[in-house]
Order: sequence, then structure tokens, then C-alpha cells
Amino acid sequence: MKENDSKHRILILGASGFIGNAIYKELCSYFKTFGTYRVPHKIYKDNNHFLQYNVEEDDVYDVLNATKPTIIISALRGDFQAQTIAHQHLSEYVLEHDCKIIFLSSANVFDAYSKYPSYELDKTFSGSIYGHFKIKIENMLLRLPKKKAAIVRLPMVLGAQSPRIKELKQHLADKTAIEIFPNIIMNVTTDSKVTQQIHYMINRNKSGVFHLGSTDLVHHDEYIKDIVNQITTKNGVLYKHVYTTNEDRYLAVLPKFNKLPKHLQVTSLEVLQELNK
Ligand SMILES: NC(=O)c1ccc[n+]([C@@H]2O[C@H](COP(=O)([O-])OP(=O)(O)OC[C@H]3O[C@@H](n4cnc5c(N)ncnc54)[C@H](OP(=O)(O)O)[C@@H]3O)[C@@H](O)[C@H]2O)c1
Repeated sequence: MKENDSKHRILILGASGFIGNAIYKELCSYFKTFGTYRVPHKIYKDNNHFLQYNVEEDDVYDVLNATKPTIIISALRGDFQAQTIAHQHLSEYVLEHDCKIIFLSSANVFDAYSKYPSYELDKTFSGSIYGHFKIKIENMLLRLPKKKAAIVRLPMVLGAQSPRIKELKQHLADKTAIEIFPNIIMNVTTDSKVTQQIHYMINRNKSGVFHLGSTDLVHHDEYIKDIVNQITTKNGVLYKHVYTTNEDRYLAVLPKFNKLPKHLQVTSLEVLQELNK
């Protein structure tokens, strides 16, 4: 379906970021797609589908009025209190218009649970400020009519341009220690898989809670070492082992009720292979 065939107008908040930008690139040839950036940059200033927006200073209504979206994708970072107010305004807009919101949440909404991986209907429970913040926004959006919100819980998202891969490469270049967490069992995904999944959810008009992690689980320390071994063959890489508890802890979002089709699922090995391309 080409842009002109679609009625959707899509607004991506945080479209200059790692995941937001990947989503923008995936959707822009199919839909009328707009995006926001915070830090001024020529490529965005010159693109009239991009608007500058700072959640701490600007009114999100101005962005909504300028773009009139039928789908809002929230891929923002920034001050939590300011983001909470912005999402209250987004909820009001969604309720009053023919519009729905897709919110990028995180496995951290379960970071206080440790003994099992988490599924879509499990009660959220977090021990971190970030997790608490994500839960607050999720609960706000879950009060909207069901068709109007999709909550997308992401595990660690990797990709050639991901901050985590860049950070690993920087540690290798600087010969500084890479932190690994031997007790954490997690799942992973890539930006390219997340963008395909979101595109599918838009086409199929999906709503509800989605767990977009790999179908299998990995130990944090082993997986980071696998990635590092793909980047460098040099010996003597420095690791700092960080033990947060004595027992294994799970930080994993697995699908059970809202499964996507097989071709949109991913394994940790496929993620690793994609990083090696
Ligand atoms: N990456 C992951 O592994 C992961 C995992 C789970 C969930 N998530 C969620 O996915 C979303 C996107 O994450 P990401 O990794 O793509 O983040 P990112 O690369 O840091 O991008 C964040 C985006 O938000 C914008 N932004 C930052 N501060 C802002 C402010 N004060 N006002 C307005 N915009 C602001 C950035 O604009 P500038 O580029 O101009 O600063 C950028 O467009 C976040 O909500 C995050 O919690 C990410």
C-alpha cells in the first residue's frame, strides 16, 4: 500500500532517535509520516515532515495541530515528569479524535520480579524509577478504549546504530571494562524486527499489550561476550562482572496471548547474526 492509498497520518515523537528513526524509515514510503527531533540538525530542518519538539519546553498540542495524526508513535526519551504531562495531553487527543497511540514501553515494567520471564497479562511491578515511569504511562493509556492504544514492551534493542553497540565499540577502542551481569537472564531484539512488527500492527489495526522480545532467553554476560567476539578477535577484552543478586534474575518479555506471525518472531541467534552483517 503506497502513501496515497492510506488514510493514515503518522506522527513519531522521537523520530531522530535510534528506534524512532528506524520506524520513520520503515513507514515513510507507505504513509504520510511526520516526526519530531529535539537537537537541531540540518537533515531535519530541511525536511518539512520533521518538527522540532522539546518535551520539557514545548506544548505537544502544537505538534498535534500541525500534523493531525491518526496514529501517534511515542518513541521519546526526556524528563519523566514532562513526558507524563505530554502523554496526558496525547491521551486526551486520542480520545477526542479518530486516532490511536502506540507506546514504546520496556521490559523494565517488570524489573522488580525476578524469578520468571514476564507475559502480557502479568501485573507490572518495578523497582526502578524508569520502570515506574513506564508503568504510569502504560496505566494511563490502558484506560483509553481498547482499540485506541497499543503498548509495545521492548527488551534490549540492538542494531548497528544502537547506543549499546556503539558503547561496546567505544569500550574496546578505549580498552576500558565492559559491564556484564552474570545473573540476568533476558531476551533481545533488533531495530529492524521492531519496525517490521510495528508496521504489521498498523496494517492489521492491532491494539493491546505486545511483548516483542526474542522467543528464547540468554544470559546477559554470555550474550554480550558473543557480540564482542563478533566485533573483535583480539584477546584481553576487559569485563567487569556486576552481581545485583545472588540468584538468577529474569528481565524478559515473552509473548503468550498476543503472538505475532512466525515471520515476525526472532531468536537471539538471529539477532546476533544480524549484528554480524
Ligand atoms: N533502545 C532500547 O534498547 C529500548 C529498550 C526498551 C524501550 N525503549 C524505549 O524506546 C524509546 C526510544 O528509545 P531509543 O533507544 O530509540 O532512544 P534514543 O535513541 O535516545 O532516542 C530518543 C528520542 O527522543 C528524543 N528526545 C530526547 N530528549 C527529548 C526531549 N527532552 N524532548 C523531546 N524529545 C527528546 C530524541 O531527540 P534528539 O535525538 O534530538 O535528542 C530522540 O528522537 C524510549 O521510550 C525507550 O524507553 C528502548
